[in-house]
Amino acid sequence: MLNEALRTKLIEAAMQARDWAYAPYSHYRVGAALLTASGKIYEGVNIENAAFSATVCAERVAIFKAVSEGERDFVAIAVATRDGGAPCGVCRQVMSEFGQQTIVLMVDDSARLVGEAPLAELLPGAFLPGNLE
Ligand code: THU
Repeated sequence: MLNEALRTKLIEAAMQARDWAYAPYSHYRVGAALLTASGKIYEGVNIENAAFSATVCAERVAIFKAVSEGERDFVAIAVATRDGGAPCGVCRQVMSEFGQQTIVLMVDDSARLVGEAPLAELLPGAFLPGNLE
């Protein structure tokens, strides 16, 4: 499903999205690109706020955009930062809600793949929808 061409496309989309990050406080700009099973790509950026706790991460913006348009199945998400930083714990939890097999690609600002792992590895033992059944 995630072939080389799609990986490249997803990474490029995350890097391009990063240009739109709104990060006037941390200056740590993040771009995300989420590939759905239906083949669409949803982008997101971090959006900071003067009331710091109102800030939202790029990954969650991408996921919420996709979910709000009816998407539920995600193949992979590319996250672009200056140093290839990994998704925060809250984003890992939000992504886990929709499947533990989603692959996370972490790239730096030279498009270097710094890390790659499925959510099952990034958030083992997640609290999942099944816990509420
Ligand atoms: N940030 C993300 O967008 N994604 C993450 O997973 C880690 C952190 C953002 C939030 C904030 O705007 C900035 O990076 C510094 O924490």
